[in-house]
Amino acid sequence: MARGEKIIVALDVSRLEEAEKLVDKLRPVIKIFKIGSELFTSCGIEAVDLVRRKGCKVFLDLKYHDIPYIVMKASKAAANQGIHMFTMHTLGGASMLKRAADAAREEAARLSNEPPLVLGVTVLTSHNDKDMQSVGISGSVDDEVARLVKLAEKAGLNGIVASAQEVSRIRKIVKKEFLIVTPGIRPSWAQKADQKRVATPKEALEMGADYLVIGRPITAQDDPKAAAEKILQEISG
Ligand code: C5P
Repeated sequence: MARGEKIIVALDVSRLEEAEKLVDKLRPVIKIFKIGSELFTSCGIEAVDLVRRKGCKVFLDLKYHDIPYIVMKASKAAANQGIHMFTMHTLGGASMLKRAADAAREEAARLSNEPPLVLGVTVLTSHNDKDMQSVGISGSVDDEVARLVKLAEKAGLNGIVASAQEVSRIRKIVKKEFLIVTPGIRPSWAQKADQKRVATPKEALEMGADYLVIGRPITAQDDPKAAAEKILQEISG
């Protein structure tokens, strides 16, 4: 993995101009940008095109969750758009996950593109055991996460999105090439904002994360590039 590819910067903005400013400032050091619901709902595929035009890769974080046929088609479309990595909810079940992952790879092969990395989301970190019971899931968050991670691996996904608190536990139950992408990252010098259970970039990597998703500790700084460089130095030191 090239320098700068371990860090994914979340473009949590609603205007294309804001996204472009961030990408322009950061692209000398950051190679992957995450486009989530806010930017995609506001600007659609133009946001994807923008990042790709600048020579960077797209992590499309729309967390697909629908009947297998629809998620299969959406995954095919993601591969068609040259998306580097994208997410779906593992709660969608084995058939949805497998059909989607297969379709993305087949479409990439048809276009002679690199296959996208297909990632699963397990239990949202905003949920605790009580929230799970209220939607009819008994058992603890930890057990549910472990079960969904195994489901994702068996269905052929490339990896999972998991909080830093879950990384070491997940690392123990999956193959070493199964990717763990970790948000909720805060360097010791950054504001926590609304993130509660956080880890520093170095801690998350030491626990077994492959990629770190970082938003405001980079994007909200006066000099985002300097912040990204500082983090890159911390993790390589
Ligand atoms: O600004 P900050 O670093 O908190 O950005 C976090 C990014 O990671 C956001 O794009 C958010 O969607 C994502 N994320 C998260 N916590 C999770 C899952 C995803 O903060 N549990």
